[in-house]
Amino acid sequence: MSADDRELAPIRLEIGDKVIELATTRASQGNHGMVITPLLQQTGLVSLDPGFLNTAACASQITFIDGDAGILRYRGYPIEQLAEHSTFLEVALLLMRGELPAARDLEAFETRIDKHMYLSDDFRQIFSVMPRRAHPMATLGAAVNMMAGFYPESLDSLDPAAVSLATVLMLAKMPTIISYIYRRAQGNALLYPKHGQSYIENFARMTFQLPGERFDAPEVFYRALDTLLILHADHEQNCSTSSVRLIGSAQANLYMSVAGGVSALSGPLHGGANEAVLNMLSHIRDNDIDPKDFMNQVKDRRSGVRLMGFGHRVYKSYDPRAAIVKRQADAVLEALGVKDELLDIAHEVEQVALSDDYFIERRLYPNVDFYTGIIYRAMGFPASMFTPLFALGRLPGWIAQWREMIADPAGKIGRPRQVYVGYPKRDYLPLDQRK
Ligand code: SDX
Repeated sequence: MSADDRELAPIRLEIGDKVIELATTRASQGNHGMVITPLLQQTGLVSLDPGFLNTAACASQITFIDGDAGILRYRGYPIEQLAEHSTFLEVALLLMRGELPAARDLEAFETRIDKHMYLSDDFRQIFSVMPRRAHPMATLGAAVNMMAGFYPESLDSLDPAAVSLATVLMLAKMPTIISYIYRRAQGNALLYPKHGQSYIENFARMTFQLPGERFDAPEVFYRALDTLLILHADHEQNCSTSSVRLIGSAQANLYMSVAGGVSALSGPLHGGANEAVLNMLSHIRDNDIDPKDFMNQVKDRRSGVRLMGFGHRVYKSYDPRAAIVKRQADAVLEALGVKDELLDIAHEVEQVALSDDYFIERRLYPNVDFYTGIIYRAMGFPASMFTPLFALGRLPGWIAQWREMIADPAGKIGRPRQVYVGYPKRDYLPLDQRK
């Protein structure tokens, strides 16, 4: 039942001879909510919904997705317009405050972020003790958690000033942390942010500048990176955002809530998919596999092979972000003078999938992860850095959703119930009586 002017019919749940009325929460767009709060108390039943396919954990004003129509809006603004006209820091303010900022507010925010991109020498020590071969997402989670140790004045979730400071410190230092993780893996010195350079320029220079050399990238590089971060900025109640909300509902501080989001995002079914896509395309190329043969493996469930970068819990049509990235990929690679046969293979795989009943019947289309890795690779990022880049993009969404949850006066600690299907009561068995 989607949001429309029709009156919401009363919902009555009939259980045997008992009937209970359930209230509803009307959506402004999309699916209305059936409020099941009295269910357990009045019926002794709990709702069981593995993977939460039918369950809303909250009412939110931040992001709207229509999976059938392929619509994504941040605070009502279509992702296509934000990708074309906005900047990552402007989108961050939009997501957190709910409105596009006035020029003076945006400038003040950018100045505040610029001031805090720096990491102390104590903090920088962390990267020197991390295993060089650690996956960047493991190091990222550790570094984000450690922010709680370095900035104790910004930990109180119930103090608006502390939350505002933690927000700025988190957004300002994340690109520096991610650049240091990359530099450490490369064995290169850690660079300092430069006041006056833009957020994206600082991030790219701290990541890629080689000792004794200047780092200059064409404007198309910076614009593409900024746009990719915008496309990843929020996506309503996905796995990692739901993790951030749940951890924050215990009044854990912002840093440790975000670190939980980093952990969830690292999974190959979620943010880790962009790295998995590149590994999949490289496997097809390196083993000279015909994409049609590869797709037959995917369709054979016994193979256990998934088409990474395809499918989505909500989008049952083309992910609007994937469409934007696909359009960008050709232009960015050409502007960077990069020819990547993996892009050709990706196009071929997509064409096979979009004309094959297996994928059509299951409404499997490219998602945001299918093409992004091609662009990141053309920029010079190794596949292992793709998911940290996703985390950087998703950071404002995690923060905005966490702040919306913390500010909810009716908020409670998240504590799902279960349906117990284990042993009934039984007595302890002494060791000599066991088989
Ligand atoms: C992200 O939630 C978000 O918003 C996430 C995200 C965000 O911005 O936060 O959009 C980012 O995580 C994008 C998704 C990245 N993951 C991948 O690309 C990994 C590959 N895709 C999947 O594994 C899968 O599609 C999921 C995890 C994304 C969605 O899984 P669902 O909703 O649980 O769907 P499902 O596993 O129940 O699949 C339904 C059917 C099954 O077939 P049948 O059992 O009905 O025969 O579709 C099949 C699945 O086998 N299927 C796939 C497939 N995805 C689903 N078959 C082959 N390849 C795939 N990728």
